[in-house]
Amino acid sequence: SFQPTPEDKFSFGLWTVGWRGNDPFGDATRPALDPVESVNRLAELGAWGVTFHDDDLIPFGVSADERQRHVSRFRKALDATGVVVPMVTTNLFTHPVFKDGGFTSNDRDVRRYALRKVLRNIDLAAELGAQTFVAWGGREGSESGGAKDVRAALDRFKEAFDLLADYVVSKGYDLRFAIEPKPNEPRGDILLPTVGHALAFIERLERPELFGVNPEVGHEQMAGLNFPHGIAQALWSNKLFHIDLNGQTGIKYDQDLRFGGGDLRAAFWLVDLLEAAGYEGPRHFDFKPPRTEDIDGVWASAAGCMRNYLILKERAAGFRADPEVQEALRAARVDELARPTLDEGEGFEELLADRSTFEEFDPDAAAERGMAFEALDQLATDHLLGVR
Ligand code: GCO
Ligand code: MN
Ligand code: MN
Ligand code: MN
Repeated sequence: SFQPTPEDKFSFGLWTVGWRGNDPFGDATRPALDPVESVNRLAELGAWGVTFHDDDLIPFGVSADERQRHVSRFRKALDATGVVVPMVTTNLFTHPVFKDGGFTSNDRDVRRYALRKVLRNIDLAAELGAQTFVAWGGREGSESGGAKDVRAALDRFKEAFDLLADYVVSKGYDLRFAIEPKPNEPRGDILLPTVGHALAFIERLERPELFGVNPEVGHEQMAGLNFPHGIAQALWSNKLFHIDLNGQTGIKYDQDLRFGGGDLRAAFWLVDLLEAAGYEGPRHFDFKPPRTEDIDGVWASAAGCMRNYLILKERAAGFRADPEVQEALRAARVDELARPTLDEGEGFEELLADRSTFEEFDPDAAAERGMAFEALDQLATDHLLGVR
């Protein structure tokens, strides 16, 4: 068991398994990987989908003919394996022209160029049947206070997204946008740094219904935030359009560990939440096989992402099905939170008239009730560690 199948909807970015291990301190440790080879190997491992930045598939700046050749041979590999392209994204961060960002660069001509690059890539996304277009603004930000008028930058961000939405609607594409937050790296501070910032921003757009979020495990954890809580709020807002699964150990550089590496406890609660909420989108892995690994290590790392998801899914299901857990959940009154605080038809007048809520309420007695969360969490730990 724990053998992934396409029904699990596991997908991988070409840039993940294809990362060559170059970092700010060292050169690449692995040779380039042909996207066709990646599709074939991912299919063998049981993945369902593959995703990419324009430049992962089509080297930056090549001629139209060459572009078409890259797309055609990729398409052939997709057709041969049955691997789908659920999501596409655009690289607005590698080329030096984007050193101050794409949509929010202080240079207006760079902003116009960025829009053209994305529009072209949206056509390709639609052509390949993608339903989600991810926007990660890694270079949208600053290193110093005077360099960026953040309110103007947000105006330009909105202007860009409104234009992209107009384009998608006018073309009749079945495509929605997912904004990916990240607090820093590569910029000192990135705009729309967390899920919460992105959710608030989306409501200011002209077509908010076309926009959701693509939260990445490590990015929220880099900001010290609780990832399952952020995902719960995105789900509550109907905005979880996509997700980037990986691993991170605390507040430090973006580790992009394989899923299940890093904070395993958060990963358990995340899978528990996604499965309980009936999230139907892709389970997309955005990780980097460490540069210590050779190509066998790359595929071991990719396989580990899927295996860990399936193990955690089984553990979470076992936790929920355990009668002792159900008893512990009741003891912790978790079910009581689902009950509205006011009765049907009650308003503030009825609440004010109900003497049991205040005049006769004994806060000291209520304060004596323990919440019983520790026993509950120990049961979760037992399930996670496989001793129950
Ligand atoms: C990161 C980001 C990126 C984006 C990807 C999509 O680790 O900093 O996750 O990998 O997800 O570039 O645009
Ligand atoms: Mn990351
Ligand atoms: Mn990501
Ligand atoms: Mn990444």
